[in-house]
Amino acid sequence: MENGAPEPNVDRPNSARLYDVFLGGSHNTAADRELAERIRQRAPRWSLGAQLNRSFLRCAVRYMASQGIDQFLDLGSGIPTVGNVHEIAAQHNPHSRVVYVDYETIAYNTSRAELADNPNVTILKEDLRDPEAVLNHPETLELLDFSRPVGLLIVGVLLFIGPQDKPGDLVATYRSRLTSGSYLALSQASDDNLPADLQAEIDQVVASYEHADEQLVLRSYEEVAGWFAGTELVEPGIVHYPDWSPAQQALDDYQRSCRYGYVGVGRVP
Ligand SMILES: C[S@@+](CC[C@H](N)C(=O)[O-])C[C@H]1O[C@@H](n2cnc3c(N)ncnc32)[C@H](O)[C@@H]1O
Repeated sequence: MENGAPEPNVDRPNSARLYDVFLGGSHNTAADRELAERIRQRAPRWSLGAQLNRSFLRCAVRYMASQGIDQFLDLGSGIPTVGNVHEIAAQHNPHSRVVYVDYETIAYNTSRAELADNPNVTILKEDLRDPEAVLNHPETLELLDFSRPVGLLIVGVLLFIGPQDKPGDLVATYRSRLTSGSYLALSQASDDNLPADLQAEIDQVVASYEHADEQLVLRSYEEVAGWFAGTELVEPGIVHYPDWSPAQQALDDYQRSCRYGYVGVGRVP
């Protein structure tokens, strides 16, 4: 890899492939499926949370594209699935440009293969904890024009960035490159104010990720709100996964009870 994390050990689950299992994908190993099944039994709403997180990502991209955003930087982009960022963006503007960033081998290889014939989209095998490497990468500079608004997506990934890596500083560094009219979307797992049954589930999830490459860090509303400093929150603000978009109002009560984390979109004024 160009930089950062060690090559993943396929005998040990990791966040990219576990997420792929939760989304019904096929780019995962027996070890991933085994741990994902254990999580499903102990915390049935976690895989639902993964789907709601992905659904938020799609809604956020659709929203940004509707506001004229035609270039996106997607940090911790994951293994390609149905409704990828570049596909949604292209529905609004076929010339949209997307730079995906992921440090995981399968996410990188599958994305690279899928994007081979698309000159408007690329994936970097970089660690988002090195913003300079991402922002100054030749492919980033070739595809994204930071003098124009950019959609910055940091969705479903900061929960794997520990406090020692100062996620707030990382978000601020990326945001400092965004010009007026840009957008930031992010999501973060949290156990704020959970009823006892959901708290028990998320405790099980945190314990389960001890067996994976990346551990899971939960954060409070206040910390997440701080990451949006320097942006104006788009309605409805920082809310639980099921509450962000009107498209999510078709959810049933069980789906709406999945309140493991926060999502939000901010606009750089
Ligand atoms: C749960 S998936 C989220 C995928 C996508 N952003 C979404 O929300 O649907 C998290 C992804 O972040 C990647 N990731 C975790 N830590 C990372 C880091 N430090 N640098 C780059 N990618 C990272 C993982 O490899 C994984 O593919």
